[in-house]
Amino acid sequence: MCGIIGYSGDREGLEVLKYGLKAVEYRGYDSVGYYDGTLVKDVGKVDDFLKKVEKVNVPFIAHTRWATHGGVSPKNAHPHKVGKITVVHNGTIENYKELKEQLNHNWNSETDTEVIAALLDKYNEENFLETIKKVISMLKGTFALAIIRDGDPKIYFAKKDTPLLLGIGENESFIASDLIAFLPYTNKFIRLEDGDFGYVYKGTYWINNKREIKEFEGNVEAAFKGSYETFMLKEIHEQLDIVPQVFSVDLSEIRDIFKNNRIDIISAGTSYHAAWYLKYLTNYDVQPYVASEYPYLMRDPEWIFAISQSGETIDTIKAVKKAKEKGAKVISLTNYISSTLASLSDYVIPLNAGIEIGVAATKTFMAQLLFAHNLIEDRNIDEIKEAIKRGLEAPLFDIKREKVFFLGRAINYVLAMEGALKFKEITYIPAEAFPAGEMKHGPLSLFDDNTDVVFFLGPQGRDLAKVNLEEVEARGAHVHKVIFPDQYYTISATVFLQRLAHDHALKLGRDPDKPRNLAKSVTVE
Ligand code: AGP
Ligand code: GLU
Repeated sequence: MCGIIGYSGDREGLEVLKYGLKAVEYRGYDSVGYYDGTLVKDVGKVDDFLKKVEKVNVPFIAHTRWATHGGVSPKNAHPHKVGKITVVHNGTIENYKELKEQLNHNWNSETDTEVIAALLDKYNEENFLETIKKVISMLKGTFALAIIRDGDPKIYFAKKDTPLLLGIGENESFIASDLIAFLPYTNKFIRLEDGDFGYVYKGTYWINNKREIKEFEGNVEAAFKGSYETFMLKEIHEQLDIVPQVFSVDLSEIRDIFKNNRIDIISAGTSYHAAWYLKYLTNYDVQPYVASEYPYLMRDPEWIFAISQSGETIDTIKAVKKAKEKGAKVISLTNYISSTLASLSDYVIPLNAGIEIGVAATKTFMAQLLFAHNLIEDRNIDEIKEAIKRGLEAPLFDIKREKVFFLGRAINYVLAMEGALKFKEITYIPAEAFPAGEMKHGPLSLFDDNTDVVFFLGPQGRDLAKVNLEEVEARGAHVHKVIFPDQYYTISATVFLQRLAHDHALKLGRDPDKPRNLAKSVTVE
């Protein structure tokens, strides 16, 4: 869940560091640090940190952290240096306590990462690749590592279960958790695979396995915010542009599989809501599961459908691996067709939403909903764009009270779930979703005049929903009805609920792009 960037080449180090850290900041942002011969690290945001940096030597390795082991403190920030070895790490080491006990060392941090640096220093030998091979065989857990050894001009790396890429330019090399960290400098990259280790040095590289260099041909501009106040707002507006590209995906083969099989859908967070959308919208025999729970619920799946915009969500990946062990075949829907999830799949469907930087999923969710429409051959592009426009233009209402509920029936309940998640995720105000008909079985006792209710009233299940609305109003709650024309109501309402959360977060002075405690790509369990 952390961001890594490392550089070996002739450019000004500070420029590459600044760009790279900003680009990977979305992955984790409680602390920042780099090593260029000197160790510099602190807690806080990348911008504040960079203000104090005047010069950076090359090679360097740098990191933005999302703490898993040890609190957010300068000493727990990465890099971690032991003797001649300095390491940045993304992932978690399960056996770090045992390993620490075996070493006689005064630990500087509470992290699981420092033990990796200590082991590399202990076994440091002339051929450092042998050292890395030995040390990673001792680690249980997940890791993307960038390593500098004092007196050695190379940057070493190793990868397992969390993303790491090499950027290969002319006389320069990059190591990063995400392509966008080096795209302005080179579009040639290698996506490392589990078990890979090696080094880079000024455009040259060595990997223990043979890997292909690929070329990225997407739009780098998309990774910049442009004139929008936040990435999230930019991405909410981009929903209008992505419709044709999402529908351009040919689903004929996939459609047959959906028609003829029972399929378990595995996903997390917003992607999980997309799974429910698919179930309500279609007649297919699909069953959504929260990815982290799936291993406990799985029976003998023949087909699974994994939805993950990043393709790197560890809960989803682990569930997919478990299902594969049972012989299941895998279809995946992801925005990153060279992601870990894609590499595990028999069929990969590109989401085609373009790069999404805001931690809150918006246009990728829209693309997931449109995928469901495409699957049932409902491809009215013009009407859908009109529906998105209505969602972008509708006046917002104010949420003022302490308790916030999102309600709806049938497919509107999916909107309620997504509305509540978006709202709590970026405003930090507790917000809950319920199926409107379920209120009287408990939640209704919470309703009084200190309650705001966002009620989705699309055509599916509307008559009964209106009855439930009255039950809530009768308890004094302040009901805000989300009203749009029936034609693609769910699409308009989706845009609306995103704007509602975004607007409220800004009013409260929150940064919607980087909600506290979260990260874009959730690569820890
Ligand atoms: C959405 O706003 C969240 N940030 C989160 O729920 C996200 O959808 C979830 O972590 C799943 O991510 P994925 O689609 O990349 O697997
Ligand atoms: N486990 C490391 C730490 O807590 C890295 C965290 C991560 O990758 O999320 O510092």
